[in-house]
Amino acid sequence: MENNRVLITGGLGFIGAHFVHYYRQTHPKTDIIVFDKNTYAADIDRIADLINTDHFTYIEGDISDQATLNGVFEEYQPTQLIHFAAESHVDNSIAGPQLFLKTNVEGTFYLLEAARRTWMQSPHELKTAFKNARFYHISTDEVFGSLGKEGRFNEQSNYAPNSPYSASKAAADHWVRSYFHTYGLPTLLSHCSNNYGPHQHNEKLIPTIIRTALNGKPIPLYGDGQNVRDWLYVEDHCIAIERILAEGTPGQVFCIGGKAELANLEICTAIVQQLDKLHPRENGASYSEQISFVKDRLGHDYRYAISATKIKNELGWEPKHSFEEGLKKTIVHYLAKYKNLS
Ligand SMILES: NC(=O)c1ccc[n+]([C@@H]2O[C@H](COP(=O)([O-])OP(=O)(O)OC[C@H]3O[C@@H](n4cnc5c(N)ncnc54)[C@H](O)[C@@H]3O)[C@@H](O)[C@H]2O)c1
Repeated sequence: MENNRVLITGGLGFIGAHFVHYYRQTHPKTDIIVFDKNTYAADIDRIADLINTDHFTYIEGDISDQATLNGVFEEYQPTQLIHFAAESHVDNSIAGPQLFLKTNVEGTFYLLEAARRTWMQSPHELKTAFKNARFYHISTDEVFGSLGKEGRFNEQSNYAPNSPYSASKAAADHWVRSYFHTYGLPTLLSHCSNNYGPHQHNEKLIPTIIRTALNGKPIPLYGDGQNVRDWLYVEDHCIAIERILAEGTPGQVFCIGGKAELANLEICTAIVQQLDKLHPRENGASYSEQISFVKDRLGHDYRYAISATKIKNELGWEPKHSFEEGLKKTIVHYLAKYKNLS
């Protein structure tokens, strides 16, 4: 892959930045171009060590600005695109859905168009210089809607998005699929479950639990805390993405899960138990006293779970971290970050 130029959208975000580091380690000579709007969810410090290094470019820009995007494709001629950029927080999509339409749907469309114009000689015929091109779209398991107590999502699951966020991701997925079938654009797509790990934005569940616990505040859990998610350690996700990019066949879709299905209350309990050991409260009481149930999120999906059998059988990928191992690394990170904040 040494002659490749990999454009990574959303590389200042949580998963994108972890991936940028992982890709840099595994492909030290490949040109990486990070394109990111630097929204509230971004943090340039996540990739500060790579800026001004060889084979690395950072461009601040908006994927829903078509002229800028076309300029980037013209100048850098990327051979691979990994598309992480999105508005990603469900609560924000409920409060203000329009930006999700603009970034997640319109932005994905402009990327598809830029890739099509740059890579394709004609429909289903790639230019020679782009014969190994890939358009890799990072999707979510949330596009499949909510499960009951049984069953798992897989690559054949029906779309049934329930929030403006998941609807915008589902719409983008359909555009990606259509460009593969109509134009032969060499696409890849994966649906991952909830990611966790160091450097996630404060607004997400695990950082919120740790921060509020350490600040002596109520630890907010939606509804009765019984909503179930499948938790994927972010480094394991990055390994899966790299593998799919290298070995996936155009048009393929993969589901990526962490084999760690847990209710929010179980996650919270696991975290407070660790905090009780690693950073006991001054009065000796357990942090569990601070758990408090708050009004449920509108349209809150009950359960997501992933069957990651296809990626295991076809690419030999399985998560390396158990939830206990991943959580421990995560808590150590946030303890250092939040301990001295009031
Ligand atoms: N975090 C998860 O648990 C999870 C689960 C499933 C799928 N996903 C998907 O993975 C991808 C990355 O998620 P994340 O958690 O790292 O998100 P994030 O919110 O941490 O980061 C998103 C990044 O995209 C950038 N961005 C937003 N709008 C942009 C625009 N218009 N133009 C250019 N850049 C823009 C932001 O500045 C930010 O750096 C998203 O597509 C998300 O839908 C995430």
